[in-house]
Amino acid sequence: MAIKHSLLLIMLIFLVGLVALTEPARDDCDCDIPKDFDSSYFGDKFIFGIATSAYQIEGGTGSETGRGPSVWDTFTHETPDRIKDGKNGDMAVDFYNRFKEDIANVKKMGFKAFRMSISWSRVIPTGSIRDGVNDQGIQFYREVIKEIKANELEPFVTIFHWDTPQALEDKYGGFLSRTIVDDYQDYADLLFKEFGEDVTYWMTFNEPWALSGFAYDDGIFAPGRCSSWVNRKCRAGNSATEPYIVAHHLLLAHAAAVNIYKKKYKQIQGGQIGITLFTFWFEPLSNRQVDIEASETALDFMFGLWMDPLTYGQYPRRVQNLVGDRLLAFTDKEIKLLKKSYDFIGLQYYTSYYAKPNVYIDPNFVRYKTDSHVNITPYDYNGHLIGEKAYSPWFYIFPKGIRRLLKYTKDTYDNPVIYITENGVDNNNDETQPIGEALKDQFRINYYRNHTWNVFESIDKDKVNVKGYFAWSYMDNFEWNIGYTSRFGLYYVDYKDNLKRSAKDSAIWFCKFIKFLTPAECDSLRPEQITQVISRKLGKYYL
Ligand SMILES: *[C@@H]1O[C@H](CO)[C@@H](O)[C@H](O)[C@H]1NC(C)=O
Repeated sequence: MAIKHSLLLIMLIFLVGLVALTEPARDDCDCDIPKDFDSSYFGDKFIFGIATSAYQIEGGTGSETGRGPSVWDTFTHETPDRIKDGKNGDMAVDFYNRFKEDIANVKKMGFKAFRMSISWSRVIPTGSIRDGVNDQGIQFYREVIKEIKANELEPFVTIFHWDTPQALEDKYGGFLSRTIVDDYQDYADLLFKEFGEDVTYWMTFNEPWALSGFAYDDGIFAPGRCSSWVNRKCRAGNSATEPYIVAHHLLLAHAAAVNIYKKKYKQIQGGQIGITLFTFWFEPLSNRQVDIEASETALDFMFGLWMDPLTYGQYPRRVQNLVGDRLLAFTDKEIKLLKKSYDFIGLQYYTSYYAKPNVYIDPNFVRYKTDSHVNITPYDYNGHLIGEKAYSPWFYIFPKGIRRLLKYTKDTYDNPVIYITENGVDNNNDETQPIGEALKDQFRINYYRNHTWNVFESIDKDKVNVKGYFAWSYMDNFEWNIGYTSRFGLYYVDYKDNLKRSAKDSAIWFCKFIKFLTPAECDSLRPEQITQVISRKLGKYYL
């Protein structure tokens, strides 16, 4: 008996050992997407939409519009050398005058939602409400929102998408000052009051990481501040401290706006409020514990920096340990406001990296980007890229990353309601390419198909609570520090022909994926003559 028992035990231990030694097979593969995969897999309630932002598309910046300048006007005008093509959003793609055509195009593709942002300085020119409101600005957004609804689209409104009013920058340093929390709260309050009857989905901030990181650590986004050793073009700043100060004020401003919304509007207007966050997904470079730890730390610095305070009222423990007293503290009252301060989380996913420890950091060169002591790289141990390169300098295509990020968010942050508020891919704006060729964007179709499939799998297999998906973007537009050199659109914008919009293949693909129109109707989103016009080539000119 005894021998039999111990034999059984040994066998059992061996079996358990076997299981433990085998790496868990990951079933997140985009190799066999069913032929009939389309939006019906997601069910009727799931929302497919497109995303845009004010400064990137509107234009309408002239004094006759009553709009005050934002930091992006200043940044692009005063230092055009910091924009890849030296251009700006003065005209952008003229959404200010063409929004009816644009909203109609989005409707035609079959989308159910239109994500837009409001320009703070268009509605409050100085940023401070006591200085006055620009009625023309209010009127403009009232018309846009009305047009969106008239087309049976759901407006998803971002309150702030990086365009801080220049007057607040001049007055107290914008997001470097805690005073911005009050001005932002007043601004949000005004929007809820003016538009809340028509807007069900609000997002307080778009990608706060980009403001903290790109604007105050790298110095490549307006207002372009950083330590001089990081980027010689920065005239002032401190990459060791300012990103955390700005992050802190962004979080407090978010909490203040949510608080006002819940107190004064949510009951009556019946809406939802959240925030949109951007993060890379980080794969451990190997299965070594140090690499796994590094990938988690990288996520804490890029994603947890926001998600932890918003969910649990504290910065992530790893961030606290590594940043120390450069991190600002929350008061008890602030912690209360921050905890669970969202109805939904908007996730914006584009790309993934490998993570491994970065052991030595020179104490004389401290900055947000290296505080994590993690080295991130697009190359694996064998020197293979994690995925094909897109156009933006940081962008490698890794569709599984979106599924892993969704699962991680569910597991780490108590299963929140999630909308993918941005996902998409860019290519180089090649001005010599005939338009007919530029409209053929099979790589973008592949990107969308693989990513929507991974989102579907995360809902179906991982039971993540994803309720919507927004493509970035409806049309090509001003892509911040890389100007008009990057094209992210489903619609092509012809910068040489009066900003004419034309459906790319990906727009037609999405139309068929959504199945609002018949395939033939989707094909007719692009009038026949476009393809004919382009084929006439004369020397090096295309007519
Ligand atoms: C995505 O989709 C295309 C075709 O649908 C495929 O060839 C490609 O390898 C896929 N995977 C990745 C990682 O992009």
